[in-house]
This record gives sequence, C-alpha cells and structure tokens, in this order.
Amino acid sequence: MLRQTLLYLADQPAIFRFVRRNGLARRFAHRFVAGETLETALDAVRQLNARGISASLDLLGESVHNESEALATGREYTRMLEEIDRQQLDSNVSLKLTAMGLDIADELCVGVVQSVLERARQLGNFVRIDMEGSEYTERTIRMFDERLYPSYSAHVGIVLQSYLYRTQTDVAHANGLRARVRLCKGAYDEPDTVAFPDKQDVDANFVRCLHALLRDGNYPAIATHDEAMLRATTTFAKQERIGPERFEFQMLYGVRRDLQDQLVREGWRMRVYVPFGTQWYPYLMRRLAERPSNLAFIAGSVARETLRLRR
Ligand code: FDA
Repeated sequence: MLRQTLLYLADQPAIFRFVRRNGLARRFAHRFVAGETLETALDAVRQLNARGISASLDLLGESVHNESEALATGREYTRMLEEIDRQQLDSNVSLKLTAMGLDIADELCVGVVQSVLERARQLGNFVRIDMEGSEYTERTIRMFDERLYPSYSAHVGIVLQSYLYRTQTDVAHANGLRARVRLCKGAYDEPDTVAFPDKQDVDANFVRCLHALLRDGNYPAIATHDEAMLRATTTFAKQERIGPERFEFQMLYGVRRDLQDQLVREGWRMRVYVPFGTQWYPYLMRRLAERPSNLAFIAGSVARETLRLRR
C-alpha cells in the first residue's frame, strides 16, 4: 500500500514543484542523488574511484515532451562523456530512451541516442540503456536490437528486469547476440499480467537469469543489493570457475555502501550508478518505495546533521 502510494506520488509534478523548494526534502535527496550539477556528480565519481569502484553517470529526467528537450539531453550526455574522458574518471553513462524523445518519435530518439553512441565510440566508452516501465519494454528491446546494437555493439548495453515473465527469453536472446546485459529486479509498479507479483518468484527468476548470463553472456552486470542474490552470484561464479573479470556487480549510489566495499575487498568488480540533476524527485520516490524504512533512516540522519550543525 505504502509502496504504491510512493510510486503514485513519484508521477505527480505538482508535488515535485513543492518539494524542490523545500530545503529539508533536498537534503533527503542527497542520500541517493549526487547533487544537481555535473560537477558535483563528477566529484562523487572521483570518490567512488578512490574506493576502487567504477561508476555509471545518469542525468535524471524522465520523458521529454518536445524535440528541443530531447536534443538538449543528448548534448548533455555528450558533455558527460567528454568530461569523464578529460578528467580520466572510471565511469560510463546510463540513459533512458524516454529522456531522448521515445514518447515523441522513434526516429528522433534513435538519432539522439546514436549521436551519444558515436561520441562514446570515439572516446572508447560505453552507454547503458536503462529499462523503464513495461509499456516501453518491447519498444526498447526492438530499438536496441535493430537500430543501436548492430552499429555500436561494443559501446551499448541493455537492462532486463527479473520481475517480468518475458525476461528469461530476453536473456537468452541477448546472450545469442552477445549483447551486454544489466540484470535487475525492476523498479516500476507492474500488473500481474506482465510481472510476478510475489518477491520469491522475482528472486527465483533473478537467479535463473543470472546463471544464464554468467554462463553464456557477455560481461553481464548483476545489479542488486539483495544479499541472497549476491551470494547466489558469487557461489555460482566460484562453482563454474567464472573469474571476477567476466562480470561486474552494480549498486545504487547511497545504498549498501558497506556491501559495495566488502565485495571490492573480496576481489569482485563493483560499479555504482550515480544519478544527478534537478529532476531527482521521481527517482527518489522509487528508492523510497523499494524500502519505505528509508524514510525513517533519512529523517534520522537529517535530524542528526541538523543537531550537529546547531552545536
Ligand atoms: P530488494 O528490493 O529485494 O532489496 C534487497 C535489500 O537491498 C533490501 O532488504 C535492502 O537491504 C537493500 N535495498 C534495496 N533497495 C534499497 C534502497 N532503495 N535503499 C536502501 N536499501 C535498499 N530498475 C529498473 O526498473 N530499470 C533499470 O534500468 C534499473 N537500473 C538499475 C541499476 C542499478 C545499478 C541498480 C542497483 C538497480 C537498478 N534498478 C533498475 C532498480 C532495481 O530494479 C531494484 O528496484 C532495486 O535495485 C532494488 O532491488 P534489489 O535487487 O536491491 O533487491
């Protein structure tokens, strides 16, 4: 119930306008978002790199509504790739097709993403196409397969979500193409016509998919903070003699930093997804929906900081 309410609130722009003006809410957001500017996000990447962790920069912002916004987002991604290169940081980028114009026109979206991929290829970097709600799954996969992957296979990868019934088939298809996949559970509120309603089924499917990806995939990313899923991955990798150079773990900025460091200490590769930008509200609400106790956690840490500042 609370999860659904938080996901509903994530889609309310009027609430975001109110929240963005509120200093306390902005400090809430700091836990999961690396600031509103590229410069603050690059500082966060530098700190992660110093801990032996790679990054994937994500400019927050969901669907754009006109061509000039889509083109501007594409230019911003090009600038991100150039700054990563100039500052010699260990980071790639993650983007959403709706931020590149998918809701306006396919051709616009393909053109904007290809311009970002072209720059990524010139700079020897990599672009991950995030996966959005299930109304976009088929279009995202088709655009990836037909328009993006064929020309940029070494520089682009996709995301698949274990809560969807279709995902095992999509994993096999991606493995057949040798496409790079990030596996996650899925963050959107989906009907039981397309997604497993029960966590145990989502988890069981995650394990089936991670086995297929580790065995037959091309440098997959296992994106989870779930200790059972992490254990399932390391156990399978050891059993099948799959070395740490064959895949990477991924986690979200501000989530389970203890586990991020522990996995690095154990010799596994770790990449942290670093979101930044002014449009942080829907992202923050999805993170709170995943774990409503974050509300109490963040409130407690803001209160502690405020007390410290007053002293
Ligand atoms: P699960 O939700 O079962 O949580 C397991 C444990 O992890 C919790 O008990 C808690 O300890 C910890 N945890 C999880 N979420 C937390 C949070 N927000 N705050 C604090 N602790 C938390 N989704 C999507 O639909 N499309 C996408 O493209 C992506 N991309 C993506 C990239 C990366 C790098 C990650 C890590 C995740 C995504 N996701 C995503 C989000 C993903 O689908 C999922 O919603 C979250 O990762 C939470 O699922 P877990 O696998 O962590 O397990």
